[in-house]
Amino acid sequence: MKSYVLKEAPGFESLDLVEKELGPIGPHEVRVRVRAISLNYRDLMVAKGAYGTKGFQPVVPASDGAGEVVEVGSAVTRWKAGDKVAGIFMQTWLAGPPAASYAASALGGAIDGMMAEEVVLHEDGLVAIPAGYSFEEAATLPCAAVTAWNAFYGSGALKAGDTVLLQGTGGVSLFALQLAKAAGARVMITSSSDEKLVRAKELGADETINYRTKENWEVEAFRLTDSRGVDQVVEVGGGGTLNRSLKAVRYGGTVSVIGVLSGTSGEVATPLILGKAIRVQGIYVGSRTMFEDMNRAIEANGIRPVIDRVFEFSEAKAAYEYMESAQHFGKIVIRV
Ligand SMILES: NC(=O)c1ccc[n+]([C@@H]2O[C@H](COP(=O)([O-])OP(=O)(O)OC[C@H]3O[C@@H](n4cnc5c(N)ncnc54)[C@H](OP(=O)(O)O)[C@@H]3O)[C@@H](O)[C@H]2O)c1
Repeated sequence: MKSYVLKEAPGFESLDLVEKELGPIGPHEVRVRVRAISLNYRDLMVAKGAYGTKGFQPVVPASDGAGEVVEVGSAVTRWKAGDKVAGIFMQTWLAGPPAASYAASALGGAIDGMMAEEVVLHEDGLVAIPAGYSFEEAATLPCAAVTAWNAFYGSGALKAGDTVLLQGTGGVSLFALQLAKAAGARVMITSSSDEKLVRAKELGADETINYRTKENWEVEAFRLTDSRGVDQVVEVGGGGTLNRSLKAVRYGGTVSVIGVLSGTSGEVATPLILGKAIRVQGIYVGSRTMFEDMNRAIEANGIRPVIDRVFEFSEAKAAYEYMESAQHFGKIVIRV
């Protein structure tokens, strides 16, 4: 079978398609014929050696993939051949709060990921895909969607009527938009592109702000809440945006710190955090239970992921280039 490997040097230019044999599976393992993969901003970071503490290491990339079970080990009880499944981001985070050990099982980073025709995973490291979903749709869920779900429901509860502020129109933000609308929340979303903001409105966004033309977007967001502040911010910007998010959020509101699109470091306005009693929570994707809970919400609300473009397996490098160009709206998928 064929598998991609990020090889010697940092950068997705070293992405190589190789022939690989996976060997016999263990009693609790499952062989999955991968049918689709999705890319995340994290995949660019992994390729650049800018993810985690260990720098660049050769790896089969991509955390996100979906496919069908083709073989199960002798002791497997959760799956049978023909089941449609998606891998979970951290293979050992099944339920409960995060723990130090889970990151060592993250697909496409700490361990080999999904960018292959076949993968072998522990039976616990998979979920059933939502009913009626194509493999392309299911492949968009493990990282971006579960992260958005965790921000809203992991240790708090988004309520109908809450106002949620989202940054940009990438994978995490558009899933957050859809999940927030399904919960009856009001959504504000920013983008560098007026065209993308029109599309966000079509998806249900209530208010849109262009963060290029309105540099002080946090002031605009605050104004749009009659100076109360938003209830939640899904913070994917990082170093360059965190303080703005702290300004936009209400007293006692929540800022979910998720991304680093504008950088990894910067001064933090601690007086705002304590003075406004803001709950700042770090989010690292989520558990299998969160994924399963989210899939129920997806089915109940008829949520379909926003797929910007589907590339063929042979075009993986082009898919990375497209992701890096940030032209996309939603998710980028690779069909296997
Ligand atoms: N902590 C976690 O568990 C976790 C999980 C998933 C993702 N993440 C992180 O979350 C971030 C988003 O990931 P993703 O996969 O959704 O990315 P993505 O799909 O590549 O989204 C990129 C989009 O974000 C917007 N953007 C870029 N710079 C921005 C800025 N300075 N301010 C506001 N928006 C900006 C742009 O949207 P417009 O074109 O509309 O401007 C861009 O197209 C990344 O930093 C990623 O590493 C973290």
